[in-house]
Amino acid sequence: MSAHGAARPMIARAGGALTGRADVPGDKSISHRSLILGAMAVGETRITGLLEGQDVLDTATAMRAFGATVEQRDGTWHVHGVGVGGFGEPEQVIDCGNSGTGVRLIMGAMATSPITATFTGDASLRKRPMARVNDPLALFGARSYGRDGGRLPMTVVGAADPVPVRYTVPVPSAQVKSAVLLAGLNAPGQTVVIEREPTRDHSERMLAGFGAEIVTRHTPEGREITLTGRPELRPQVIAVPRDPSSAAFPVCAALIVPGSDVLVPNIGLNPTRAGLFTTLQEMGADLTFENLRDEGGEPAADLRARFSPDLRGVTVPPDRAASMIDEYPILSVVAAFAEGQTVMRGVRELRVKESDRIAAMVAGLQAAGVSVEDGPDWMIVHGLGHGNVPGGAMAATHLDHRIAMSFLVMGLATRAPMRIDDGGAIATSFPIFGALMTGLGADISHA
Ligand code: S3P
Repeated sequence: MSAHGAARPMIARAGGALTGRADVPGDKSISHRSLILGAMAVGETRITGLLEGQDVLDTATAMRAFGATVEQRDGTWHVHGVGVGGFGEPEQVIDCGNSGTGVRLIMGAMATSPITATFTGDASLRKRPMARVNDPLALFGARSYGRDGGRLPMTVVGAADPVPVRYTVPVPSAQVKSAVLLAGLNAPGQTVVIEREPTRDHSERMLAGFGAEIVTRHTPEGREITLTGRPELRPQVIAVPRDPSSAAFPVCAALIVPGSDVLVPNIGLNPTRAGLFTTLQEMGADLTFENLRDEGGEPAADLRARFSPDLRGVTVPPDRAASMIDEYPILSVVAAFAEGQTVMRGVRELRVKESDRIAAMVAGLQAAGVSVEDGPDWMIVHGLGHGNVPGGAMAATHLDHRIAMSFLVMGLATRAPMRIDDGGAIATSFPIFGALMTGLGADISHA
């Protein structure tokens, strides 16, 4: 079942080359943060290029429930913020749908205000661990009451008299780091977050852009981020770059479908997000970056991807995992079309995403005739080489957009078509995926 009704089975078949321009939607991480920080600023933030996927729309609804005004007019989003510490108490349960980023960042943003909010989500989100944010939020003085194992639905009682914290994030997670930083906004004094492995740094960049005092130092323990609490955030004009994690799907499709040549203009290339492209180049992918530039504080470029018949398996260094954590599902598909094995280690976090992504990819790849091995925090795909991947399977997607899109891309180059049980979740991050891919020449349809 999809999050919003009946399951939508889909099918992808091999056909002609993929050619043309792929205008992928705005970055999901930056879109959530634009709305949340806009709601915490004083005055009107204007956002263009916002991802209008369900995850982000749910965050917009949540920001209204906390008192901000959020409107879309002529393609621009206008957010009238209530200021740091200005959130009001929502009258209703906050439903974050499928979005771990939405719920964890919003919990952080409200945890240091004297209000109570109850959060829930869809069947996927209700299975995901929240203790990773509730534990540090408790240090500020917030209390959380959830289901067994720290699961949603969960009520967070914000701290009336918050204290600043110093916290070392125990798992590589930008969501946890960001929740602590957002909570630190309404705590007096300095909140310090230390991360051993660098994760996406959009929160740090954007907090600085909104006028917060935030300093990052490299120390022997890792990156140490110090935020001074109780700033007045200034509203911003934000142009959201296009999402490299969404770009990954047409790019990888072009690499494995003979004759393809696809241009993905203006994608964000923040180094904390770009690990997939480095890995693909190591595999022998024909990728070129054109017009490298800066877009609103984030590096960006136009990316051209061409069919790459001689892909080789590689070992992905574990310290690259955080910079491509959402891309392992589509990388494991590309790996099936490479010669030799692709080894992915240090990827334990994949087990607690929208689905257990290691289990979902192993099951679907094996059903499609690809040999895969896995352990608690690793996966090895034994590539069959271009033209040799059987396919002809139905993959279970477990309400996970990236699993759904990965197996549809796979079906564009397997000998027999690939089916997925439900494409409904694709709308959470990439609502135009089907139209964009068919526009490039892909044979993807509802089955
Ligand atoms: C995100 C962080 C990552 C990523 C997610 C978006 C963010 O999650 O998987 O899609 O915007 O901060 P974790 O922080 O759980 O690694």
